[in-house]
Amino acid sequence: MEKIVIKGGNALHGTVGVSGMKNAALPVLFACILVKDKCVIENVPDVRDVAVTLEILSKMGAVVRRINKNSVCVDCTHLKGGTSDYELVRKIRASYYLLGAELGRFHRAHVGMPGGCNFGVRPIDQHIKGFEALGGRVDCGSGYVDVDATESLHGAGIYFDVVSVGATINIMLSAVLAEGTTTIDNAAKEPHIVDVANFLNTCGADIRGAGTDMIKINGVSSLHGCSYAIIPDMIEAGTFMACAAVAGGEIRVQNVIPKHMESITAKMREMNVEIEEGDDYLIVRSDGNLTPTSLKTLPYPGFPTDMHPQMSVLMCRATGISYVREGVFDNRFRYVEELARMGARIKVDGKTAIIEGGVHLTGAKVTSVDLRAGAALIIAALAATGKTEITEINRIERGYDNIVGKLKELGADIRKMYQPDDASMDIAN
Ligand code: EPZ
Repeated sequence: MEKIVIKGGNALHGTVGVSGMKNAALPVLFACILVKDKCVIENVPDVRDVAVTLEILSKMGAVVRRINKNSVCVDCTHLKGGTSDYELVRKIRASYYLLGAELGRFHRAHVGMPGGCNFGVRPIDQHIKGFEALGGRVDCGSGYVDVDATESLHGAGIYFDVVSVGATINIMLSAVLAEGTTTIDNAAKEPHIVDVANFLNTCGADIRGAGTDMIKINGVSSLHGCSYAIIPDMIEAGTFMACAAVAGGEIRVQNVIPKHMESITAKMREMNVEIEEGDDYLIVRSDGNLTPTSLKTLPYPGFPTDMHPQMSVLMCRATGISYVREGVFDNRFRYVEELARMGARIKVDGKTAIIEGGVHLTGAKVTSVDLRAGAALIIAALAATGKTEITEINRIERGYDNIVGKLKELGADIRKMYQPDDASMDIAN
């Protein structure tokens, strides 16, 4: 079993390079299904969810060639629809993009139900609403979602009852080659929505308004291959900012788009973290003395839910009581019980966490219950007294490219260890 071992107390110094955004790379890779040509995708993070995605595509008949650690060439010319591997699909949430891509190219889709982090119920009713508006007949059963629009896949006006990243992207994928025009009203506005639209437009699509709450898609007859670089990961960047805020020190977070970080930067500044903005970097300084604040997670440009657990750790160290209201998912509080093992005092009341500050965090044996919960444990361990051992680190590696190596470079006492039964040995990073 692999685990991450951290001895707390080291301040962080130096430069960390942010990788490409996981939640943009995954839909872009699945969008390659719409292109009967070679697509070269660069700045792809080397994370488990990308590896699973490439394996799914390869098993469906795509030709996948890794050019280097962060670039890949994908040719879906001979890919066969409806053939995705059920067990691989259920490993990741983003596999639901197979539905939109298969429907867009083959006018039908046959995909196992998606997996992903457990935040309570994660329905796909808005995805289904969109597929049906475009002419699809949807059946869910036996672990699969089937969509059939072989009669006619046509443009439509769609209004989303809930702002949904996944549904917005899935309807873009479904509509880009459909007859006529599709409008998506109440669309999600995340930077990764814009990235997927930019990729598709680079391949010859006609998508306008991505990044606003109204997206218009004029169907085109075909798409051609292209080269495309994924945007930097604002959540990875925010996670490293949180590491420095809690551990103290001064770091330069390189390869960011400051505009994407606005809500994260604003909230950390409220907590007495000093942040200097450059064109493509942020300099983060902290003496570890943080002031309390309150925040509510919301769809972009609101504060991102994927930074909720990380910010809770800053609040544990603040000099007073803070509040986090989870405004996106039903239950994103599973991280609380693991932080409590390290001394955190967090009470959950409905969708709000009440976080007592001034807490002295202590090292402990803890488990990463999901991707961002695991990131929060790493942040807490950096400031905790003593040694912390984090297991289930595969969940962290789903979305962070070499987080152990990057933190070690910044001066953290952190290593990845392999523990067969009782013995433990270091893993070279
Ligand atoms: C994406 O999940 C991300 N995952 C999540 O990141 C992120 O937290 C989330 O967007 C919000 O930004 C990927 O991109 C792979 P949603 P997604 O559809 O698409 C409800 C991480 O840590 N909803 O925007 O599943 C839903 O239940 C992961 O990287 C419906 O009700 O999120 C939720 O309450 C975690 N019906 C809200 O909308 C639907 O049909 C937002 O979900 C779809 C969603």
